[in-house]
Amino acid sequence: MNPEDKHFVIAIDGPAGAGKSTVAKIVAKRLNFLYVDTGAMYRALTLKALKQNIDFHNPQALIEMAKDTTIELIQNGDSYRVLLDGQDVSNEIRTEQVSTNSHFVASIHEIRQLLWDIQRSYRKNHDIVMEGRDIGSKVFPDAQLKIYLDASVQERAKRRYLQLKQQGIEEDIEKLQREIEIRDQRDKNREIAPLKKLDDAVVIDTTFMTIEQVVSAIIDLYKEKTGKV
Ligand code: DC
Repeated sequence: MNPEDKHFVIAIDGPAGAGKSTVAKIVAKRLNFLYVDTGAMYRALTLKALKQNIDFHNPQALIEMAKDTTIELIQNGDSYRVLLDGQDVSNEIRTEQVSTNSHFVASIHEIRQLLWDIQRSYRKNHDIVMEGRDIGSKVFPDAQLKIYLDASVQERAKRRYLQLKQQGIEEDIEKLQREIEIRDQRDKNREIAPLKKLDDAVVIDTTFMTIEQVVSAIIDLYKEKTGKV
């Protein structure tokens, strides 16, 4: 066993809008684990490509750009910052433009490999809760606990609608639903590291669950696995 295997990994995969970030942050806090949002890394590279006007249909240019980039996830209490080449881009990476274009970098194998190395390095010194699409399948196939967080498309669109409304943005719920469906198709049908339900993952359908219920379910699974109470 190499030393990295000692650290516990809770891998949380699932489609966009299933509540992964919210739940993963709370679980990490309760267990005193490090929280790692891998989507933020794909978003950061997408933002850089947009800023540098790199053609999303030119994979080689995107790969070169990625090789020349540093991405850091900085956690300080309840604050999670994303640094792209030293610059704080935590808010900028959440725009609609970044969301709709992030599938380009996410479908390039060489870029995923670069990010996998960074993602795996977090386990060297910490127990972690890591969320994304391919954590249980590619990043940590040996994760001690794998969760697939799901919710119906309608529910995910509703949650997004309410989230935007809170920010003072009125969106058409059917348009949001269509966007989610497109993102699902891209995540599930891409050739490289597609999102899938693994045989050894526990599927939690959060459609009719509260955040607290989902968090408790994951912590109970962790306790079952480890015998810790
Ligand atoms: O979870 P998110 O919406 O922040 O993810 C942003 C993009 O990155 C989205 O296109 C899916 C992709 N992604 C991925 O391919 N693999 C991951 N482990 C995490 C995100």
